[in-house]
Amino acid sequence: MKIIVPATSANIGVGFDSIGLTVNLFLTLEILSENDRWAIEHNIEDVPHDETNLIIQTALSIAPKMKPHKLRMSSDIPSERGLGSSSSAIVAGIELACAIGDAKMSLKDKLKFACEIEGHPDNVVPALLGGLVISSYHEGVLEYVKADIPDFGLIAYVPNYKLSTTKMREILPAQIPFAEAVSASAISNTMVASLLSGDMEQAGHLIEKDLFHEKYRSELVPELQQVREVGHKHGSYGTYLSGAGSTIMCLCPLERVDEIANALEGFSGDIFKLDLFHYPRLN
Ligand code: HSE
Repeated sequence: MKIIVPATSANIGVGFDSIGLTVNLFLTLEILSENDRWAIEHNIEDVPHDETNLIIQTALSIAPKMKPHKLRMSSDIPSERGLGSSSSAIVAGIELACAIGDAKMSLKDKLKFACEIEGHPDNVVPALLGGLVISSYHEGVLEYVKADIPDFGLIAYVPNYKLSTTKMREILPAQIPFAEAVSASAISNTMVASLLSGDMEQAGHLIEKDLFHEKYRSELVPELQQVREVGHKHGSYGTYLSGAGSTIMCLCPLERVDEIANALEGFSGDIFKLDLFHYPRLN
């Protein structure tokens, strides 16, 4: 049996801890035979091969009596680059507990549990639902809307360096002034309304007006401004720091993808031309 979970790109500029989308990079977990202990084969650096692995830990926290198995994982989601690699592991763990443990979880249970572990919904909720999702997780209550939006292109510039989400959250201020919070929220509201009404030009323009996190984080991701400028020159809608970084994501009309990706070739790191991923409809 295989469990497949997509990568996610969170924040989308102004939607800090609230908006995220899925892209076509995947973590694949194969469930092999029962074993005398937990063992997970993979070739990802610094990720445990035993029961301390996040996938297994997550599954055991749901179904502690689950019998140990051999597992095999492969992932094309770059680690610690702001593309939801740990959220994909959490979601894989939830699905593992449902597949071989005795856990019976509805989609609502899975969403709630994933938010409890992650603390914010903007990676795990899209990872479970697919597409672009706007959500709030406040005082233990999750509310979300899966957006019906026009198709667009995505180019991820993935720098050579990792950034820890914990550290990237520590550099954010504990408070921001009331007037700034009002502006930040107004910009975010208008961006979401633009997205939902299909005005990608205006959505892209507003995506770049974040007041919640990018200005504090961009010192550690100096390429953000440069990639944004390349995007503008070649017809992007907008560019943002994906999750806590280090990936920088450009949204653009589909016909601009090749041109923007080519223009970014000189940057050191990887360039991925991506699509918004949707789970296949089963009915
Ligand atoms: N919204 C989160 C952040 C995403 O930017 O810190 C990363 O987990």
